[in-house]
Amino acid sequence: MHKIALFIFIGLEFSVLQGLYAQPSKASDKQVNALLAKMTLDEKVGQLNQYTGDRAATGPLSKSADKLEEIKKGHVGSMLNVRGAKDTRMVQEVAMQSRLKIPLIFGLDVIHGYRVTFPVPLAEASSWDMEAIELSARTAATEAAASGLHWTFAPMVDIFRDPRWGRVMEGAGEDPYLGSLIAKARVKGFQGKGLGNTDAVMACAKHFAAYGAAIGGRDYNAVDMSDRQLWETYLPPFKAAVDAGVATFMNSFNELNGIPATGNSYLQRNILKGKWNFQGFVVSDWSSIGEMIAHGFVENKYEAARVALTAGNDMDMESRAYTENLVQLVNDGKVPVKLVDDAVRRILRKKFELGLFDDPFRFCDEQREQAVLNSPESKKAARMVAAKSIVLLKNEKQLLPLSKSVKNIAIIGPVAKSKNDMKGAWSVYWDGKDDKDLVSLYDGIKNKVGNDVSLSYAKGCGIKDTSRNGFAEAVAVAQKADVVIMAVGESADMTGESKSKTNIHIPGVQEDLVKAIQATGKPVVVLLMAGRPTIFNWIADNVPAILYTWWLGSEAGNAMADVLFGDYNPAGKLTMSFPRSEGQIPVYYSYKNTGRPVIKEKEILYKSAYTDSPNTPRFAFGYGLSYTTFEYSNLKLSKAAIHNNETLIASFTLTNSGKYKGEEVVQLYLRDMVASVTRPVKELKDFIKISLEPGESKTLSFTIDKEKLSFYNQRMKRTTEPGRFELMIGSASNDIRLNSGFELVD
Ligand code: NOJ
Repeated sequence: MHKIALFIFIGLEFSVLQGLYAQPSKASDKQVNALLAKMTLDEKVGQLNQYTGDRAATGPLSKSADKLEEIKKGHVGSMLNVRGAKDTRMVQEVAMQSRLKIPLIFGLDVIHGYRVTFPVPLAEASSWDMEAIELSARTAATEAAASGLHWTFAPMVDIFRDPRWGRVMEGAGEDPYLGSLIAKARVKGFQGKGLGNTDAVMACAKHFAAYGAAIGGRDYNAVDMSDRQLWETYLPPFKAAVDAGVATFMNSFNELNGIPATGNSYLQRNILKGKWNFQGFVVSDWSSIGEMIAHGFVENKYEAARVALTAGNDMDMESRAYTENLVQLVNDGKVPVKLVDDAVRRILRKKFELGLFDDPFRFCDEQREQAVLNSPESKKAARMVAAKSIVLLKNEKQLLPLSKSVKNIAIIGPVAKSKNDMKGAWSVYWDGKDDKDLVSLYDGIKNKVGNDVSLSYAKGCGIKDTSRNGFAEAVAVAQKADVVIMAVGESADMTGESKSKTNIHIPGVQEDLVKAIQATGKPVVVLLMAGRPTIFNWIADNVPAILYTWWLGSEAGNAMADVLFGDYNPAGKLTMSFPRSEGQIPVYYSYKNTGRPVIKEKEILYKSAYTDSPNTPRFAFGYGLSYTTFEYSNLKLSKAAIHNNETLIASFTLTNSGKYKGEEVVQLYLRDMVASVTRPVKELKDFIKISLEPGESKTLSFTIDKEKLSFYNQRMKRTTEPGRFELMIGSASNDIRLNSGFELVD
């Protein structure tokens, strides 16, 4: 039972705020200031306080005193983990009993869909399809807003290069350029036509900053990085979110170079609110203000509150540091009231923009909720996005797509019939419930082939099993089939917050199960399901057809069946390099050449190399196959040299040289050959996703301008330097099909 139901609603009648705040939903400073002028210090501090309801607690609950009483006293500005039109209305009604009747903001981790679940963000990123990603966020926002929510704690725009970190499932991958585009698409999707529309929720760019660089991939661990690394790699998606108009930011649990992000004024005051002129508000991560004590950065919560507010943290999520100490801090002269006012203003402005002062219940309409949730269009969108998220890693002898006339299919593996895993982590709507509507791989195939094909099934083993007892039955099932489809991987709860691992091989005896089935001599297709890159070298070397399907959401099984039977030709490309072993981590495509690069794979003595493994990843950034093939030809550069203010056009021909209609993600990489600061061997600068009919050719072009050639120089000023650039166009970071060079002249 959830706690909100336990809250005793004291039956005061809801009084509509007729007249009092009857103003247009666009905030003006005048309105905000007028309200601020009426507030006591106690009420101001209340606006900066966020409590949790019952759901999805991701940290220890702070003492759960009578939160409704606190709300009534005006001591709460926002609630998280209260959702549903009915529950949010009930709690909002309590806020309407407070002296100034300032409505609450309801926030929730709506990470990848709400009622209809979409693929986990790392999967969606593999689509390289900004429209699809925006549609996913749009659909989630529409459902969430109909469920009384005003705010999602998404997108997570952290860059990461360490698949041991469990939260990789929540982000867009290793690359700052692609990560920035995806950040923008997600913010646009969540915020739709703008706050004030009842199908838009506030987005929240998180976790500011560098949370994805936790040492050793261990969640919440310290981060130590150069300013260059921060600005080049980790900050760009946050800046993109600001440019896209993101309403809020969340800071992070980690320290950055000795200073916890929550108390970091360089990040929050100098960069975010200063240089980037961010006008929204910053919420702490769950209890991260109080956690500055454990960091060894402050002695007590009094100090924690002072440091956090001074550093630019506006709202306190569940530390109670602000509510317990801010009034005192102001009275003691330790925090200027104008800092409190600034934080309150930022929050009130959003409440006005959301239209909550016009009608605090405009998001709490149970009828609308019923009508909007789980619509056929949303399910259709989820199926489409899921199919686009699948990455074809291997397809020897064109084993895929399967013919629909195949007569006997064996479906084997511990995740083949799993429904709940399809949701992936962070499906808060479904916390603690089974979603009967989720489509497993088995059900998806059944839906596709109907009764014309005989399907047999064996689990073979559990995900973490060490026992091989189920192998014999699985082998017997495989032996009777024309083709075997295997589903192996992690369980959904192995990724997500606090799910770091030192061993990211697929767990248990699953790889042995694949070996046993492969030994039958039957054609085997392996579907790998996980929320992170995993290691499966034997499968990669020996199984003819492999699809990486991640966690695909409500429509997972249907989308997988669409791809298996060729109704959708896969086009996903990895956005995170897959290591060969944990020892290679971090492995990423945009590495530095070093003074001793490996030139020939076998010649590694006194080179920057491992003696027991190639440097290259198992599957590279940007990699993913299609059922068709693409040829790249005829590269032409408009000029051999350009001046700083000029543009260069690189045009080329792309031909679908195979038998199927298909989409290709054509990638443009550049390398600045010599610069005052060494540059990576390759940096993604642009890409085109295009669909071609079999035999069709198109001339495509990339425009190269100053922005694509610039970098942070020794004084951390973004600039260009004259010199030679290598231009590479290809199907993956390790599959460059066309290259050339040009000169940037003064
Ligand atoms: C902690 C997580 O780090 C953050 O991403 C999330 O939004 C909050 N908990 C609230 O659930």
